[in-house]
Amino acid sequence: MSTQQVIICKHLQTDLEQSMARCPHDKLFVLTDCHTHQYCLPLLRLPEDTTVIQIGAEDIHKNLETLAYVWNELSSRGGTRHSLLINLGGGMVTDLGGFAAATFKRGIHMINIPTTLLAMVDASVGGKTGINFNGLKNEIGAFAPADSVLLDCEFLKTLDHPNILSGYAEMLKHGLISTDAHWNELIGFDLDDINYKQLQELVGQSVQIKENIVLQDPREKGIRKALNFGHTIGHAFESYALEKQQPVLHGYAVAWGMVCELYYSHLRLGFPKEKLRTTVHFIKENYGALMFGCKDYDHLYEFMLHDKKNSSSQEVNFTLLRDVGQIEINQIATKEEVFELLDFYSETMQ
Ligand code: GLY
Repeated sequence: MSTQQVIICKHLQTDLEQSMARCPHDKLFVLTDCHTHQYCLPLLRLPEDTTVIQIGAEDIHKNLETLAYVWNELSSRGGTRHSLLINLGGGMVTDLGGFAAATFKRGIHMINIPTTLLAMVDASVGGKTGINFNGLKNEIGAFAPADSVLLDCEFLKTLDHPNILSGYAEMLKHGLISTDAHWNELIGFDLDDINYKQLQELVGQSVQIKENIVLQDPREKGIRKALNFGHTIGHAFESYALEKQQPVLHGYAVAWGMVCELYYSHLRLGFPKEKLRTTVHFIKENYGALMFGCKDYDHLYEFMLHDKKNSSSQEVNFTLLRDVGQIEINQIATKEEVFELLDFYSETMQ
């Protein structure tokens, strides 16, 4: 799989022009959602004959119908196998646009310009693309890295606080799977009074951590599973909240999932108690908690069994940590152990 160029922008327009020049093309398309169409597209100077494709915002539009609409626009408005697609938006746009580009005419060039923190540090980097299908998240997709990913932290200055927090949870995960120094910096960062210059530096380090892992294992056969830390239980929380029609942002669910999975890391592998305490405190202070009772444990466990990260539908697979940066993949938990983690969560967070 080809590698992608990740650029921390000093000047978005110049970096974009250089990235476009590296992808010679006959026709340029830009994919936006209704928000990035209004607020972000006007910040780019694009050739007059650029075709803009606009889709609905949020995860509900990350489906086959929207994908077919994008394919149709590419096809009917002069797209060829030598065309270039720029995905301008959050993870929904970069995931769906990435899959459209990977499949149209068997693959065209694309550039990602993520506009949310979550998309910057996670979705737009590493080549995972796809759509939701049959009620399952990211059920259909392909590994297809963008040619370039342009990270411009200016976009973050207008991002609402919950979406900053959502992306920050993935950064915290990158801290936990990398070094004490990076983890310490993240835990010490004041999310209530954001220093954007410092945030930009943290974003750069965070993306570097993800890139290093993806380079070693682009198709998630081994060490890329480190990036799933917090996600086994996090995805179950996300699905549970969605089912209750009280959806939560992805990063919040991951933060709460990390509380459980860090505790499991402590129980099973001796992850240091003090670092567990500090991280749980940080998450509780900034993310609050999802409410559920013991009667919901079986249902949450069912969600975990259906996770596509499992190798069998009878067991739940975790990535755990012996310490910050000491990763152990493929840790199988019993149902009793999972319930113990949920007990810890309930006692500590609620
Ligand atoms: N979001 C995790 C990964 O890209 O592998």
